Amino acid sequence: MIGIFDSGIGGLTVVRGIMDAMPGYDLVYFGDTARTPYGTKSSRTVIEYCLQNTEFLVKNGAKMIVMACNTASSVATDAVRDSFDVPVFEVVTPAVERCLAATKKGVIGVIGTRATIASGIYEKQIMEKNPQAKVYCAPCPLLVPLVEEGWLKKPETNMIVKKYLHPLKVRQIDTLILGCTHYPILKNIIARKIGKRVAIIDSSTAMAERVKAFLTENPDFDEKLAKTAAARFFVSDITPQFRKTAKWIVGRPIDLEPANTEGLS
Ligand code: DGL
Repeated sequence: MIGIFDSGIGGLTVVRGIMDAMPGYDLVYFGDTARTPYGTKSSRTVIEYCLQNTEFLVKNGAKMIVMACNTASSVATDAVRDSFDVPVFEVVTPAVERCLAATKKGVIGVIGTRATIASGIYEKQIMEKNPQAKVYCAPCPLLVPLVEEGWLKKPETNMIVKKYLHPLKVRQIDTLILGCTHYPILKNIIARKIGKRVAIIDSSTAMAERVKAFLTENPDFDEKLAKTAAARFFVSDITPQFRKTAKWIVGRPIDLEPANTEGLS
C-alpha cells in the first residue's frame, strides 16, 4: 500500500494525482484534521505529528510514505526518513524540478504556509539548481482554513487570494509554485488573480509523477505493492464539511474513517 498523509484534506489533491497517474494501486490516507493547520505550528510539533502519522500508516500496511504536505516536507523529512525503514517522498523537490523546467525568465513566485515559507526550503532548492533565479515568496496563512471550511467560491476567498498574490504580481513572476497541497483546490482563483501568462506549478501532480517514476525504476519494490484499487481514508476528526470537501477533491465517493494517532511514536 502507498501511505499518504497531510495535516488535513489538502493531501487529497496528491491522492487524486496518484489515482489518476497510477490507477489500481492500493492507498491508505491519513488527514490530521483534528490538529490542522500545521503551517502555524513550531517545527518540533510538526515533526512529532509527522512521526505519529507515519507510524499509523506503516501499522496500517503502508510500504512507502508520501508526505503530501509542504509544511511537513519542509521541516520533518529527515526525521521521518531517519525513523522509518520505508521509502519516504517529500513534495518540495518534484515541484522545484517542474518549476525550473517551466520558467523562462527565472522569476519565480512561491506561496505556502508560514512554516514552509519561513523554512526557506524552496528558495534554497531553487537557488542551488539555478543560482541566477529570482525567487519571491509569500506566506498565505488564511488559505488552508478557507479550504478546510469549503469556502471555495466565496467573494472573501477571491479578495484574500488577490491580496496575497499582489506582491508577487508586481515582481512580474513568470512561474508560481503552489507550495501547499491545499492550494490546487483554489487553482482556478489563483490562476485568475495572478494572470494567464504565469505558469502554475501544482505540487500534487508533480508528486504523483515522482512516485510513478520511482516505481518504474524499482520494479522489485513495485511488485510488493498491492494493486486491487483499495483505498482507505482516515482522519483524526470528521465533520460534515470535511466529508463534502473530501469527496469533491478526490472526484469520487469516499468513506472517511476516524483515527487517532496521539500517543504513537
Ligand atoms: N497541505 C499542507 C501543506 O502542504 C497544509 C499545511 C497546514 O496544515 O497548514 O503545507
